[in-house]
Amino acid sequence: MTKFFPSLHVLAVVLAIGPVTVAASMFPRTLRTAPGDHGGGGGEDGGEALTTLRMLHRICRVYGAVGIAVPVFGLATGSSLGVLGSPWLITSVLLTAAAAGLLVLRILPAQGAALTAVQTPGAGPGPRASARLAMSTGVFNLLWATVTVLMIIRPGSTTGA
Ligand code: HEM
Repeated sequence: MTKFFPSLHVLAVVLAIGPVTVAASMFPRTLRTAPGDHGGGGGEDGGEALTTLRMLHRICRVYGAVGIAVPVFGLATGSSLGVLGSPWLITSVLLTAAAAGLLVLRILPAQGAALTAVQTPGAGPGPRASARLAMSTGVFNLLWATVTVLMIIRPGSTTGA
């Protein structure tokens, strides 16, 4: 059982966090090519951008939900190894919660609002929408990267390399 939960945990990380990271990072760049923002896009490219934005937003939502498996199997791993009280693990749980909160409370709503704005004739998401989204997405990616490093290095851990 000590190998089962870590395997599912890492599998969930690869399958869920990977797609969300890539899709969320591509969203602001695609938004810049959409009609209404910076006066760019429009026409054929604008329609294509909208389709891409919808798909990227959907990937973030669906794989973000699948990502619940990461802490679930992480906690199962931690409890089977008896390391739930370790400072590196508590820090990881807090950082994971911060990343999830950022995705659910800021990134997904901002993507949704940008999508609505792109589809509103004469409106558009505004020049700062993509910059703000790029910033929150960057912080989000940094949080995952930090947790991954913590999971590998496990500072202060006595349970092995
Ligand atoms: C509530 C959140 C989380 C908990 C409770 C948790 C818990 C754990 C535990 C207990 C281990 C096993 C460590 C060991 O073998 O001693 C582990 C391994 C791992 N975790 Fe997490 N984790 C969480 C979130 C994450 C996140 C968000 C990521 C990546 C984005 C991640 C990536 C990894 C990786 C790559 C390993 C394998 C490390 C190795 O075996 O060298 N975990 N996790």
